[in-house]
Amino acid sequence: MRIGILTGGGDCPGLNAVIRAVAKTLMHEHGAELVAFLDGYDGLVTDRTMDIDWETVSNILTQGGTILGTSNTANPFDWAEKVDGKMTVTDRSADALAVFEKHRLDGLVVIGGDGSMAIAGRLASCGVPIVGIPKTIDNDVPGTERTFGFQSAVNVATEALDRLHTTASAHHRVMVAEVMGRYAGWLALEAGVAGGADVILIPEIPFDWDAVFEVCRRRHRIGKRFSIICVAEGARPAGGKMVVHRRVEGSPDPVRLGGVGRLVSGTVEQQTGISSRSTNLGYVQRGGSPCAFDRVFATMLGYQAAGLVAGGRWNRMASWQRGRLADVPLEDVAGGSRNVPPDDPLLAVARSVGTSFGEA
Ligand code: F6P
Repeated sequence: MRIGILTGGGDCPGLNAVIRAVAKTLMHEHGAELVAFLDGYDGLVTDRTMDIDWETVSNILTQGGTILGTSNTANPFDWAEKVDGKMTVTDRSADALAVFEKHRLDGLVVIGGDGSMAIAGRLASCGVPIVGIPKTIDNDVPGTERTFGFQSAVNVATEALDRLHTTASAHHRVMVAEVMGRYAGWLALEAGVAGGADVILIPEIPFDWDAVFEVCRRRHRIGKRFSIICVAEGARPAGGKMVVHRRVEGSPDPVRLGGVGRLVSGTVEQQTGISSRSTNLGYVQRGGSPCAFDRVFATMLGYQAAGLVAGGRWNRMASWQRGRLADVPLEDVAGGSRNVPPDDPLLAVARSVGTSFGEA
């Protein structure tokens, strides 16, 4: 059995842990040979590979990033490149299929988020046998209740909120922390609850400015002279727009967000008269070593994916449902996004301890 493997999309802690688990399980338990494609789907289209053996995947469990490299712009079906200074988009899926054939592969393991799974679904419909593994700090891949990388990012954001708490209290300020999460607010929600944020703003609940001001004013009135606001980069005021930082042309989703934290902080200070500062946590949430939970969880998902490969159960994604390892058809995952539903229990839990979601 010869199996290809790649990591696609934005990186997150635990990618190396999952590569190690898939490779070791397939080599050790099933005698498989592995070929890795470099920089996500880019390597599959341009035939850039790395052989995987026992040595390659030794000592990488705790390493951040991915030894294979990744890309969140490479898409074989919409291949964007500059020709004579002009961005052109072509379909290079035939090249990807030819490279897959050339390496005499029986299947491909794709470790990625919602975008990578959507591409995996299209490759599967072209005849490439695929097993997917969900990763992302956003925790928004459909078909699984958890992605690896998420918990590590929650821990980073929580520690930042803890640190902001002490300086907020010392200076009697409103401290705003902006965390990642374009369309899904899971990271802001869990870190906000863990860090005791007074206000959590997520993309799924457009916020009311007056409600946010009132939380800060009320806390001041009762002698709590500081407030903590945890805002997802994709949060927006009701009737308003997301704050776009830049566009990355040629990317499947070209919009890159950033700046809502600064907007919230500036507006709160202006409207309430309370001093405010903002901090954008940015890429520190994606970098660094996976936490213990993600090391274990990534290893479990890698084991599950290797089992799907060995059993010939193609075009499925390893997943986590109701506290157990599971798997779902790739076609149920491809193209979707899992957002925080209005009845998510953690919303009610947070409200019960006085956290505001900026609702009117
Ligand atoms: O999907 C992961 C993620 O980190 C998002 O939370 C964020 O909006 C986006 O990727 C940033 O992408 P890039 O690495 O291209 O700046």
